[in-house]
This record gives sequence, structure tokens and C-alpha cells, in this order.
Amino acid sequence: MATKRSRSTVIRVGVIGVGRGSGFARGAGPSLGMKLVALCDTWEERLLKVGKELGVTTYTDYDTFLEHDMDAVILANYFHQHAPFAIKALRAGRHVMSETAACFTLAEGVALVREVEKRGKVYMFAENYPYMAFNQEMRRLYHDGKIGEFKYGEGEYVHPMSARDVNSISCGVNHWRNWLPATYYCTHALAPVMFITDTRPVKVNGFVVPYDAHDPVKAGHTAMRSDTASMIALRMDNGAVVKLLQVGLRGHGNFVRIHGNRGLMENLRHGNQSLLRVRIEPFEKKPSEVAEQVYAPNFPVFAEAAARAGHGGGDFFMNYHFAEAIRKDEPPYLDVYRGVAMSIVGSLAYRSALADSAPLEVPDFRKEAARRTYEHDDWSPDPTTRRPPDPWPSVLGDITPTKAGLAYARKVWRELGYGGE
Ligand SMILES: NC(=O)c1ccc[n+]([C@@H]2O[C@H](COP(=O)([O-])OP(=O)(O)OC[C@H]3O[C@@H](n4cnc5c(N)ncnc54)[C@H](O)[C@@H]3O)[C@@H](O)[C@H]2O)c1
Repeated sequence: MATKRSRSTVIRVGVIGVGRGSGFARGAGPSLGMKLVALCDTWEERLLKVGKELGVTTYTDYDTFLEHDMDAVILANYFHQHAPFAIKALRAGRHVMSETAACFTLAEGVALVREVEKRGKVYMFAENYPYMAFNQEMRRLYHDGKIGEFKYGEGEYVHPMSARDVNSISCGVNHWRNWLPATYYCTHALAPVMFITDTRPVKVNGFVVPYDAHDPVKAGHTAMRSDTASMIALRMDNGAVVKLLQVGLRGHGNFVRIHGNRGLMENLRHGNQSLLRVRIEPFEKKPSEVAEQVYAPNFPVFAEAAARAGHGGGDFFMNYHFAEAIRKDEPPYLDVYRGVAMSIVGSLAYRSALADSAPLEVPDFRKEAARRTYEHDDWSPDPTTRRPPDPWPSVLGDITPTKAGLAYARKVWRELGYGGE
């Protein structure tokens, strides 16, 4: 393993991807003992703008960027391309923090865990949702035994957007957001449940709400060709059952619900959704306990800095835990095994949905036997690399964007200065 670093040693960081990556770049500052030193993106106009604002060296080529003198790389490039970029960075001797997803295929998951073990560098999966205040509080309560043993949970990440907003973050017909199957963006729903309860998924059933040709936003005004939403049923390694719901339905919300055999915890579904409800039944509560409490939990540490950061404070804790893991030379909680386990649920759930929602095993890549089974499994719905028996991005098959949808999407892309198709 790499040598431990003292608190005074600055961690020099490079970021690839100046969309979401700009947030990491701005957060990698002296208060966390980090220093942003380089940025990389193929979209040169945007890159130069952010590079000038932050006063750092810029690169359009990832291999050249990796030669920059730095300690760590944060990956915020395309959703489906993180594993190969992580592997290159590890081979170049850099610590890695990777945005969602950690890997796109199961073979990539195997290759990634092997590379992290081989290189001895810190790898962190940048799932920010577990670090929202109500999720950190639920973890604390769960480990205090407040609700007993975990039996059933729900994670929801429902994120409808206007057509203009969708198009502005999906530039190009083949941008991943225009074709990503509805099960793949599942880690925002799953990560909090795993974090609170320290459980892992072992079985998955996937269900997909198909592409809606009458949706005036998606079909009428975008180039999207994937399904509306997905529901994923999981069996966890302690026997608990979990339901995940994600992406494009109407009714925006990010909810987590944990039932134990002594009580329930959940963030509120209406009003102030960052409030936490904790319930113990009156017939079995201790005399000192309140049957039902609703309150605003705070962050356990760094409340002020976290409150200023994006995604309910979660973004602050990504850079913080990454820096801590590097300094202590210890894997972070969101290590490569958890990151890969969460990410492959999205792929396996899509396979299940295409097989009438049949149950599938979620392999545990901490075990060599599981790695050998999946090391060549490159099944992928990416339409740009498709070869049979790869699936189409929708359970309905090969969807063609509507003429009107494509025309409006291209109008928005041109306004943003995107020159491609
Ligand atoms: N955790 C969260 O809350 C959250 C929020 C938003 C996005 N994300 C994740 O962050 C990642 C990036 O998303 P985004 O919204 O910024 O959109 P995006 O996918 O459009 O941005 C990716 C950026 O990487 C650049 N890029 C792609 N390939 C490259 C290459 N080979 N070399 C250099 N640059 C390259 C693109 O030009 C683009 O600017 C995704 O994985 C997404 O899932 C996470």
C-alpha cells in the first residue's frame, strides 16, 4: 500500500469531466487538504472556461492528463465509461474516486476489483446520497439498535425533468442519457439502504415501465430512446427485502424507508422531505421512548461546510472521505466492492426485466470463484458498440426518437454550442 500522508501534505487532484466534475473541482480545496491541479475534457470550449476560472492546467487527452504530476484522479466522465478510465488511472499510480456507475458490464466489475487489489491505491465510489443528513442519522440510529434488525427497505430516486433540462445535459444522439436503460441509474436509491444497514444485495428481479410514446416531454421533445422508469426488487444478504424505484416518473422525490423488527425510520414524503420520522409501536416501546418522532437531523460532523454543498450535503462528504482514505491509507466505506455491487445491480436488473423479471444472483466479486464466472461477461445495452446478443436500450426494442423530439433536442444542443450530431 501507499505510505500514510500527514494532514499537512496536500493531495494534488485532477478531475476528468467538467459537467458534474466542476463541483468536485471546486470542492477540492485547502479546507480538506486538497489542491486541484488539472482538468480534462474533450469539450474544449467548456474545459477552457472552467480551467481559466479555477486557474489550473487543462487537457483534452486523458492519457496526457494522467502524466500530470498529481496524486489522485476524480472521474466524472460518461456514466458508462468509468471502469476503463479508473483502471488507466490506477496503472498510472493515481488514487481514484469514480462517479456512478463504477462499472458498466460485469466483466468490467471483475477487472476493476482486480486492478484495485493489484495497485494498492485508494479507490472510492462517489455515491453521495448516503451522506445526506437523514441517511447519516438513520445509520446512527440503526447501529444504536433503535429499530431492531433490518427486514424491509425502500430507496427511491424519481427525477423527472423538463425537456429543455434533459436536452441540455444530454448533448448528442448517442449521449448516454439518451439511451441508458431505466434500471442502470440505481445507485442513488440503493446506496443509502446499503449504507444504513451494512447489507449487500444477493438476488435481483427487475421490472421496467416501458417507453411511453405519448409522453409529451420524452417522446415529444427529446432524443431519448430508453424506458420510463424501473422498479427493482432485491434480496439482501441478511434476508431483508428491498424495493428500489428510479428515474423518469412524474412526482419528484428521493426517499429512504427502513423497517426493522422493532420500528421504522424514513424521511418524510411530503412537506420538508429532509425531516426524519422514527416510529416504535406504542405496545412495545420502552417507557423512556416516544412512539413517534419527526425531526430535522443534522450532520454528525462538518455541518456548516456540508450544508453549503450540493445534493443535501452529500457532495462535501465525497471529497472529505476520499481525502481521509488517502491520508489514512485505508479503503473508504464506499470501496470498490460496494461500488461494483451497487453498479452491477443496474445491469442485472435489466437482464431480469428482459427475461420476464426472473430472479438473478448478484455475484460477490470479493470471491475469486464469482470473478471467474463473470470475467468475460461483456453484455451491454450501449447502442454504439452493440453486437448480438446485446440488448436494445428499451425493453420494447430499438426505439427511434420522434422527428419533433430530435428537432427540439438539436435546437437546444446548438444553443449550448454543441457542434456534434
Ligand atoms: N452523484 C450525483 O449526484 C451526480 C450528479 C450528476 C452527474 N453524476 C454523474 O457524473 C458523471 C458525469 O455526468 P455529467 O452530468 O457531468 O454529464 P456528462 O456525461 O455529459 O459529462 C461527462 C463529461 O466528460 C467529458 N468526457 C467524456 N469522455 C471523455 C474523454 N474520453 N476524455 C475527456 N473528457 C471526456 C464530456 O465531454 C463531458 O463534459 C456521470 O457518471 C453521472 O452519472 C452524478
